[in-house]
Amino acid sequence: MRLLFTANEVRGLYKLGGLGDVARDLPESLLLQNHDIRLAAPLHPEIKLSRADCLVSSFNITYDNQSLPVKVWLKYIDGSRLPIYLFEEDLYLSQYTDASDNHADKYAVLSLCIAAWVAQHSTFWQPHLIHLNDWHTALIPLILKHLFNYSPPSLLTIHNLAYQGSTTTPVFQKLGISPETCPTLNLKTPPNFDNFMLQGIVHADFLTTVSPTYAKEIQTTEFGEGLEEYLKSRHQSLQGIINGLSSVDYIPQSDPHLVQSFSIDTVEAGKNANKSALQKSLGLPVKNIPLIGYIGRVDGHQKGIDLIIGALKSGNLPPPNTQFVFLGTGDPQLEAKLHASAKDSIIITRFDEPLAHQIYAGADCLLIPSSFEPCGLIQLIAMRYGTLPIAKKTGGLADTIKHNQTGVLFEDHTLEAFMSALMQGLALLSNPQRRLELQKNMMSQDFSWEPSAILYSNIYQNMYTGLN
Ligand code: GLC
Repeated sequence: MRLLFTANEVRGLYKLGGLGDVARDLPESLLLQNHDIRLAAPLHPEIKLSRADCLVSSFNITYDNQSLPVKVWLKYIDGSRLPIYLFEEDLYLSQYTDASDNHADKYAVLSLCIAAWVAQHSTFWQPHLIHLNDWHTALIPLILKHLFNYSPPSLLTIHNLAYQGSTTTPVFQKLGISPETCPTLNLKTPPNFDNFMLQGIVHADFLTTVSPTYAKEIQTTEFGEGLEEYLKSRHQSLQGIINGLSSVDYIPQSDPHLVQSFSIDTVEAGKNANKSALQKSLGLPVKNIPLIGYIGRVDGHQKGIDLIIGALKSGNLPPPNTQFVFLGTGDPQLEAKLHASAKDSIIITRFDEPLAHQIYAGADCLLIPSSFEPCGLIQLIAMRYGTLPIAKKTGGLADTIKHNQTGVLFEDHTLEAFMSALMQGLALLSNPQRRLELQKNMMSQDFSWEPSAILYSNIYQNMYTGLN
């Protein structure tokens, strides 16, 4: 099928988080299933065009009563067969970097550019179906229907409901769509905000999210971020599909950042060598004691940093005769708190990709106390490197980690439950034979994209043939 996959970020061009990985790996996997899949993304200021990129369309859109010129470039990332259409528009779209909820104009314009292109200007290539990702492109079905009188099948994937594009900017007025012709514009989220994700949820033909557990969770008040009733009313068209992990990146057999590469057959020696090197580079005593890691964003909402700070403050992290290394950046106030709470731990608050790889390889276990996690990538990478995830039983963590076989899961977001899970994990790892068994279990898990790409493919086919 001809599929247009729209996303704000794509690894290899511009990446902020997990969405960038999915927007690269899932389409690559769908290409292998013989779909004619192409990407549509903004030409962010950070993306540099090269001579090899070609201009495929130029046209104007009208936003806020202004006529704005748009250019569409076709680009291929080195070594990839995936066509990427980059949308350039100078007033709103290609100027601003931040993907936060505050750039409502930027993403209203992005959605308008893509909709106008599909409806009127992509005459050489017409998609059978449009796959939207997150709030950034969630307005496309509504815009297509109300401004272009065109409604190709559309699927919206929710990667994280905490980000919705909730705004006071009068984007619908600027787009020229009124509540008289489109009554769903009267739907608001408190305290009376317009909401991109909400409009996507009501207008897309089918909805997916990135794990089966998160698909259930978002229909509850605890996880629904105020949109649970809308999601519940669409439960028959909502499916959770777990993300895969790239088969190119994060391979312990060939990871250039490691002092010694390793496979399932050499995991013991490989992890020992990487642990010693990591201890040395962190200035920790080089000893055969458990090394506990954390890798991730420092935020006050999702990643369970409150539990880490609580554990550090109480003096229980690191437990006696263990070491702890924390790597992550984000909220400066929380970063300062982490530094202030740590006594015998190494806290590194910068972005450092090589070090992240070295922690995956050298640590014995990784803490993932997220209060919610739609899918999560870190636990998949940890398992691929034979590093035991100690994680909250939520979302994709619950769906990918097998308790006591490939990790340890805890249920309550409390310091007690978190610390008891860590102690359980350390106890499991303290027996060398059991440790090796766990490492082999983890490393033999299959996190390839193929099974998930097949599920997406089935949904596309069903939508296209009108079965859904
Ligand atoms: C978001 C979610 C994360 C998920 C990623 C890709 O970043 O927070 O859990 O893995 O999207 O779907």
